[in-house]
Amino acid sequence: MKLKDHKLGVAIHGAGSVAQAHVASWIKNPYAEIVSVSSRHHESAQRLAEQFDLKATLHESLDQVLADERVDIVDLTGPNHVHAEQGIAAAEAGRHLLIEKPMALSPGENRALRDAVAKAGVKSVVSFVLRWNPLFANLKSLLAAGTLGDLFYVEVDYWHGIDACYSGWEWAHTRTTGGSTMLLAGCHAVDALRWLTGDEVAQVSAMSNNTKGLYEYDANVVATVKFQGGAIGKTSTLLDCEMPYSFNIDLAGTEGTLRDNRLWSPKLLPGQRDWATLPTIMPDSGDVHHHPFDAEIDHLVDCIRNNRQSHCSVADAYHTHQVCLAIDRSIAAGGALVEVSSV
Ligand SMILES: NC(=O)c1ccc[n+]([C@@H]2O[C@H](COP(=O)([O-])OP(=O)(O)OC[C@H]3O[C@@H](n4cnc5c(N)ncnc54)[C@H](OP(=O)(O)O)[C@@H]3O)[C@@H](O)[C@H]2O)c1
Repeated sequence: MKLKDHKLGVAIHGAGSVAQAHVASWIKNPYAEIVSVSSRHHESAQRLAEQFDLKATLHESLDQVLADERVDIVDLTGPNHVHAEQGIAAAEAGRHLLIEKPMALSPGENRALRDAVAKAGVKSVVSFVLRWNPLFANLKSLLAAGTLGDLFYVEVDYWHGIDACYSGWEWAHTRTTGGSTMLLAGCHAVDALRWLTGDEVAQVSAMSNNTKGLYEYDANVVATVKFQGGAIGKTSTLLDCEMPYSFNIDLAGTEGTLRDNRLWSPKLLPGQRDWATLPTIMPDSGDVHHHPFDAEIDHLVDCIRNNRQSHCSVADAYHTHQVCLAIDRSIAAGGALVEVSSV
């Protein structure tokens, strides 16, 4: 039976750290109601439901969740290696999707999830949550106004020391369950490259190393990229770094430059003598409670209610994952130039 007041029924599947931040945002949305919480272990789902005093059913499996007619949206917050399979099952059952990144760990999974969601015609958002960060909104607005002219060079870096203190360490550090540095973490930076330029990456060449040996894969990656439109750029991800979380953004255009929240624009600010600083909220914390999940979740609900696809849908995020997977292939081939397949 559907919910009263046409509210959308939400199922949280995977009751760990990020799920707490998602729940805190879902309960603020007036058009949605959490009707189900589930996880690999019943106790985790129970703990999460109790933490937020949710009147939700504690299902024991995704099959049970998908058999529950009240569920309109499945929010997949389990570990990396279960996202694609669970996303395909939810889409085939006709459910809209909020799916944590990475949505897939291989080209085959990436394609299969994209195709299943397209076939089902459901709405989806992949949780590249920085797209809703206020600095990103400022940068998009300045770029759309032509403030920088044509972008010819772009850098985005994700530097975040992640070790065994992370709640998801058990699954995150192995190849089969975490994937790679790019899939675990660097995908945020690659997504920002695509989102800010509005262009697709055509070619990559990458190298990697390790200093601590904590992961089954190399923890530090740098990749040069070339965009279809001709711009060049660089992205790096450092999981071994010793410093506070940092998400660096540099955008160089023919008529101006942005370095994080600092603007140099003779066009907009004639006579400028020093960098102008944008007073906004920066992407400067790895704490999930700092991330703008409220806005991401409001956006998904808005897309469903107004029957439109998100800019951050599975179909769009497919391309971010193709770039990450191409970077991993380049590393495996000793830094070879790899074409990014967008089909
Ligand atoms: N967008 C972002 O900025 C952001 C930030 C952080 C994390 N993430 C992503 O969010 C996902 C979860 O990360 P996290 O930090 O919350 O990790 P986490 O703390 O380990 O939580 C994941 C939870 O999933 C449950 N689980 C394990 N296997 C499962 C399965 N097969 N089906 C359903 N649930 C299962 C586990 O609970 P039990 O085994 O106890 O049931 C675990 O507590 C990851 O993919 C991560 O990359 C995204």
